[in-house]
Parts: sequence; C-alpha cells; structure tokens
Amino acid sequence: MTNYSIFVVDDEAVAREGLALALSKAYQVQAFATAESAITALKEGVPDLVLLDIGLPGMSGVEALESMKKQYPDIVVIMITAFEDTETIIQAMKLGAYDYMVKPLKMDVLLSNIKSALETIAMRKEIQGLHEKYLKENLPCFIGESNAVQDVMDVVKKVAASPDTPVLIVGETGTGKELIAKAIHYRSPLFKGPLVSLNCAAIPKELIESELFGYEKGAFSGADAKGKKGLVEQAADGTLFMDEVGDLSMSAQAKLLRFLEDGEYYRVGGTQKRSVRPRVVSATNRGLPQMIVNGKFREDLYFRLAVVKIEVPSLIQRREDILLIAKHFLVQFNTKFGKSFNSISPEAETALTSHGWTGNVRELKNIIERAVLMADGVKLTPEQLGLSTPSHGMETGVERDTPVPRLSEKGVDFPALLESIERHYFEDALDMAGGNESKAAKLLRLTRDKFRYRRKKLYKKRSHTKA
Ligand SMILES: Nc1ncnc2c1ncn2[C@@H]1O[C@H](COP(=O)(O)OP(=O)(O)OP(=O)(O)O)[C@@H](O)[C@H]1O
Ligand SMILES: [Mg+2]
Repeated sequence: MTNYSIFVVDDEAVAREGLALALSKAYQVQAFATAESAITALKEGVPDLVLLDIGLPGMSGVEALESMKKQYPDIVVIMITAFEDTETIIQAMKLGAYDYMVKPLKMDVLLSNIKSALETIAMRKEIQGLHEKYLKENLPCFIGESNAVQDVMDVVKKVAASPDTPVLIVGETGTGKELIAKAIHYRSPLFKGPLVSLNCAAIPKELIESELFGYEKGAFSGADAKGKKGLVEQAADGTLFMDEVGDLSMSAQAKLLRFLEDGEYYRVGGTQKRSVRPRVVSATNRGLPQMIVNGKFREDLYFRLAVVKIEVPSLIQRREDILLIAKHFLVQFNTKFGKSFNSISPEAETALTSHGWTGNVRELKNIIERAVLMADGVKLTPEQLGLSTPSHGMETGVERDTPVPRLSEKGVDFPALLESIERHYFEDALDMAGGNESKAAKLLRLTRDKFRYRRKKLYKKRSHTKA
C-alpha cells in the first residue's frame, strides 16, 4: 500500500463501494455519498486525489469542484460522469479539474489513470520543492545534490561575498560555468547592479579592446560618431563576466592585465585615463596552463584572473545528479510543449546514468528537450531519448557477459581486484589509442588529467611491487 490518499465521492452505493474496495488495495481511501460530506472532511486533511462524480444529489459535482478549488487551489480532482456531457466536462476542466472519466469505469483503465496522475503530481511536488529550495539558496537555479556540486556552491557563497576577488571558472563545455557566474553575481552584494557579459570567442579579435574599454569618437573607420562606453564602464557597480577568456589576443590580454591591477584604462583612441572597478568573473573550457606553456596566454594575467579558481565538475564526475537534472528538464519541457511525461523508465534511467556525456548538462538538456518535443507518452524510454541501454554494450562499452569473479566464503582482496581491473582497461585503452593518452582517456570517459593521474598511480604501485 502506498501513502497516497484518495477521496471517492459518488451517491450510487454500488459504484462507490466497488471503487473504494478496488482502490483500497493500493491507496488509503475514504468514500462519501455527498459532496457536502467530502468538503467537510477536507478540513481534516486534503487527499492526494479526489474522484468526484458529477451527478450528485444536493451540491453537484461541478459546484463541489468549484468550492474545493476555491479553498484548496492545489487539490487534484478527477471528474466522473455517467455520460459524455461535453459542456459540463468543458466547464469542469475550466474550473481546474485534472482529468475526467466516463462511466462505466473499466477498473484496469481507471487504476492506470490514477497511478499516472499520482506519479505526475508527486513529481511536480518534488520538483516544486526542489525549485523553491534552489531558488532560495542558489539563485539562479543550479541543480545538483552531489558532494562535488555542494563543494562548488560553498566556494560560490564565499567568493560572492567578496566583490573585489576575481574568480576564474573552469570546466568542460556545458558543465554550467555561465550559470555559476550568474550565481556569483546574484549572491553578491552587487546583485542589483548589472551583469555584463562578453564572449571573447564570439567577437572578432580586433574589436575586443573597443568592446571592453570603449572608444572615442573617430577612433576608427566605422566607429560610432559619438564614441562608445566600454563594457567595463557598463559593468560599474556590477559584474563583468568574461566568457571564453582563453580566446583573448595577446594585446587584449596586456590591456586587461593593466586594468585588473589598478582599475585604470583608456578608451580606444583616447588619452584620458579612466578608472572603474567592477567585479570580474571569467570562464574558460580551454586549458590555460597549457596555453601558458605554449606562449598563448600570459601567466601574470592567469594569476590575476584566478585569485579564486572554481572547477565545475563534469557530469560523469557526479553521476548521482544526472536523474535529478533530467527530471528538472523533463518538467520544464513538458510545460513548454504541453506534454504529459511523468516519469523516466528504469531502462531509460540506466541509459542516462551510464551515458558518456561529453557535452555535459547542455547535452542532457538537449536530449530531454528533443525527446519531449518529438515523443508522446507518460514514461520516457531509452528509444525516445535516442540512447541505448548499457545491456546492449553500447554505453559502458563493456560486453555484458564479461566474467567477474564471484565472491567466495574467503572474501576477496577488493582493492587488488579493482586495481587489476583498472590496469586491464588502461592498458587496453592505450593499446586501442596507439599510446595517445587523450584518446585513451576518452575511451574510458575520463578527463586527460584524471587519466594521467591514475595511470601514474598505477605505474607507481607496480614499481613498488617490483621493488
Ligand atoms: N546544474 C545545472 N542545473 C540546471 N541547469 C544547468 C546546470 N548546469 C548547466 N545547466 C544548463 O545547461 C546549459 C549549459 O550551461 P552553461 O552555458 O552554463 O555551460 P558552460 O559551462 O558555460 O558551457 P560552455 O563551456 O560551452 O560555454 C545551460 O542551458 C544551463 O542553464
Ligand atoms: Mg559558457
């Protein structure tokens, strides 16, 4: 028996008792012969669902619906009618009925409709609760309950409180770096000020300086005759978010560094020294340390930007968040496209949690959006998601019947077993990738850094063993 409670309101004793009996196997049921008695009982507690007959003596079902909705706007009511009276049904739906069913009721259809309605309601409540929680704590909504995300949010809270501290956000594409930048801005004391964004990769390199610092009239051909304020000025009393900061030219890097050190700058073509101090947040998915080695990024600028560095974990580093985020998007796109998906099938859940997610949260969002838009139904399947389940050996890449030693009475040396499995796959991956670490890391759904780190550890262990 679940914890769901249902009110059955029907004046016909046979129908009422039959229905109550059938439902009482799975739910807590209270039955009423009149609308008035059901409405009185609501004062003791509102059930998860009300099955309300339309043709009742005294107060009619539609009048009862109106009264219930007035007092308890969130109450979920399914109307039951003896015949398909379109006008009354339309009226009931307008008054906020969740659904309607026509007698005679087929018990199996009724039970499955009720189950699906309750699941939808439960998910809506769960997501609503989550939203309220996240909006309160994280404004804007950054979904994730894993330790990795909680650690990131802890740092966000701390740096947000200190608007003078530059923050660099790093992480793979689609992990939510921009969302983190917004969270820093809206949690900071400057939250009422502007959040001004500049995508350094989207603007031609030669225009970046005039975008950032503005220009004086006649600074270059095609320039606005009156001159223009730069983004640093627009962001005064707020936050300047420099996205894809790894794409800045060397010359723009030099000017940015000077600006970050003392807040001073010149407009392009100008001679008047100006000064302004917005909060600076930057982000990149490029490996800046490697770019420094290659002479493509200034080391002094890097240290200036990354006074605090926030590393946003990839989705596969926090698989426990995948379903939570998927459900969040399911509800969002259900509403957007007017669909009625209320759950994710167990196979689809497995497919989602074991997928590679190289595009991270953005990829997850896109997959759910496409599935909800294109498909119909209540339960999302792997086929609708366009993902195959790992039992087909597609997503884990491991054959299903790979033998794993069974646990015997003697127990097992688990660390040694894990290590041998790890070594086995690392060697296989390196063989397949012809020794290329980046390719091997990809085959194992690891970042290159993580791959190298673990490989080093394995190698060390082996040399210790040999010694
Ligand atoms: N934790 C999350 N909760 C809810 N939505 C998220 C979360 N993380 C990312 N998103 C959503 O995923 C999409 C991609 O996020 P975002 O643009 O912040 O990623 P990014 O790291 O800046 O990517 P890129 O490196 O490609 O610029 C956005 O639509 C964002 O709202
Ligand atoms: Mg981004």
